[in-house]
Amino acid sequence: MTPQQIFNLVKDELQEVEKEFARQSESSVRTISDIGKYLQESGGKRIRPCLLLLCTRLCGRADEAAIKLAAVVEFIHAATLVHDDIIDGAETRRGRVTVNRKWGNQITVLAGDWLYMQSFSVALQQRNFQILDILIDLTQRMVEGELIQLTLNGNRRITEADVLDIARRKTAYLFSGCARIGGVLGRASGEQQAALAHYGLTVGLAFQMVDDILDFSSSAKVLGKPVVSDLKEGKLTLPLVYAIDQCTPQEARQIETVLREREFKTISQTEILSLVAKYQTLEKTRSLARRFAAEAHAALKLFPASPFKQALEDIPQFILEREK
Ligand code: IPE
Ligand code: IPE
Ligand code: MG
Ligand code: MG
Repeated sequence: MTPQQIFNLVKDELQEVEKEFARQSESSVRTISDIGKYLQESGGKRIRPCLLLLCTRLCGRADEAAIKLAAVVEFIHAATLVHDDIIDGAETRRGRVTVNRKWGNQITVLAGDWLYMQSFSVALQQRNFQILDILIDLTQRMVEGELIQLTLNGNRRITEADVLDIARRKTAYLFSGCARIGGVLGRASGEQQAALAHYGLTVGLAFQMVDDILDFSSSAKVLGKPVVSDLKEGKLTLPLVYAIDQCTPQEARQIETVLREREFKTISQTEILSLVAKYQTLEKTRSLARRFAAEAHAALKLFPASPFKQALEDIPQFILEREK
């Protein structure tokens, strides 16, 4: 299937999700509604709602609850991004200035809090404790992921295991929750729900690995957010963790210098990019992402054949190939 064909499978529902998102971001406080509108208009790939809807359909269901919850997971994602951009001091996202840049950090923290609580308020309307449990759990993990990342910020001794632990929490659990909620809504068996959770987790890990690769290989124009910025933000991602493992002490010092100075001053961006090229660590990171993608594909084997299964099986490969 092509990405367009996959998208078409849930196109009508995704349109409903957009309407729901707009309804959910209405507040009697003007600033909140403005920020909600700004976030929605900025777009985004909507991959999390898409996964939730496809997983619900995989289990033979499609209903109002799936639309509501698809909007909820996109809301949680938006809240996380809003806070993440404050933490990272990011100035652009989705090709526009970030909320923190436009409204300032103080308002943005509160808008993020509001978005989180709004997500839970909408989820609560479903009166489904299992779903609430999943959402609360994944949100806590995301916060933990950002927190662990912060405590390791600037640390050059971070390992592959640390990076994966952070990625699992800050990104993959949300993907996992989306897939599992699809299973819960579709009344899937416990075994099927566990398989979907594993599918989402591994898709999410591959997704974050590719995000970290794109930081080195893409352009701000395509991504809509700055590139070669993780290192400046004090984050060592796998392409550089692997480089540090293999490079000379002098090369490692170049990486550490940027990590310390938080800018490309003494050391240029080109010097860092050439280290990544010299040790072929984007390829190495990609091959790990490929392993996660294969695991995701395999996790679906206990589901009967359907266009939805086909779509979900193809998604990991598109994530590996994605350009933004
Ligand atoms: C960005 O997520 C944050 C990461 C987990 C890397 P997306 O790449 O899904 O962001 P949008 O929603 O499409 O902008
Ligand atoms: C992913 O981390 C963001 C969250 C899951 C909160 P990044 O910091 O790498 O995300 P981008 O690159 O800013 O989108
Ligand atoms: Mg960030
Ligand atoms: Mg990133």
